[in-house]
Amino acid sequence: MNLRAIRFYDDHPSPATLQEEVLRGLASRPRCIAPKFFYDERGSRLFDAICELPEYYLTRTEMGILESCAQEVARAAGPDCTLIELGSGASKKIRLLLETLRPRHYLGVDISREFLRESVQRLARDYPWLEVHAACADFAHDFDLPATGDAGRRLVFFPGSTIGNFEPWDALAFLQRVRRLVQPDGALLIGVDLKKDPRLLHAAYNDSQGVTAAFNLNLLERLRADLGAELDPRNFRHRAFYDAVRGRIEMHLVSRRAQTIRVLGRAFHFEPGESIHTENSYKYSIAEFHALARRAGLRPRQVWLDAAHLFSVHYLGVIVRSRPRTT
Ligand code: AVI
Repeated sequence: MNLRAIRFYDDHPSPATLQEEVLRGLASRPRCIAPKFFYDERGSRLFDAICELPEYYLTRTEMGILESCAQEVARAAGPDCTLIELGSGASKKIRLLLETLRPRHYLGVDISREFLRESVQRLARDYPWLEVHAACADFAHDFDLPATGDAGRRLVFFPGSTIGNFEPWDALAFLQRVRRLVQPDGALLIGVDLKKDPRLLHAAYNDSQGVTAAFNLNLLERLRADLGAELDPRNFRHRAFYDAVRGRIEMHLVSRRAQTIRVLGRAFHFEPGESIHTENSYKYSIAEFHALARRAGLRPRQVWLDAAHLFSVHYLGVIVRSRPRTT
């Protein structure tokens, strides 16, 4: 394994920043903890298990689309690009593109440090011709990309409909940041889950094996392990439902009883049924997503769907705004 080929940049938010964020979220009404806290090592593995579930159609549908559109993506992106994968996780989807796309540089960005390290090591081993870089960072906020020495066109790959985990205004800000990152001639390849029969959505987030429940409840295990929280995860249950008005799945950890938990010396009292809101997963129509992209200065160039129209993969270029004349 060519470990030296990997440049690893660590811009992980400091523990103090993360702790403050958790405390603020627990104190707010409604209580909330951001979904990025799901992804410690166990959480990342549970998420991988979710992706294999029969009810969780997102991953296999997106992979099917990527397989069939890889040639067209390669044609649009051109040779020797720098491929930047955000939320690279296990980096399985990128493998569907690498041989066809033949980028010169690959930069994987993820918040889960050890998971990222392992997955980029596997990529470097399996694709010896690729210059592999990794950055441990929270791309939900403003992020600086490390210098990869790239000169070519940039293609940002953001699969999995993670954009759905952002509030619409955060999704807009995120797309604007991506635009800045890839301008003037780069592009964004992004997977977006579509609006559909709520029964399918409900099943995808309430699987029969209880993996999604374990994923959600693992957040409490993490509070115990990382912040020394005093709580019993058995006193909470998983809840996920589709809100058709907002067009989003909501996930919550619902208190089964009246209880007080303690985190970093602070006490938080819960009434029975009171919850911690842990995730939103917005679903878009094609038209809604195109409108959002255009507002961010990105031009929809191509969109690929599966036969059942469950999921979409978009190729977005940059809208080049003409500069005002100075004379
Ligand atoms: C990562 N993200 C796109 C997943 C989703 O579907 O919103 C996270 C997830 N939550 C529950 N299941 C999967």
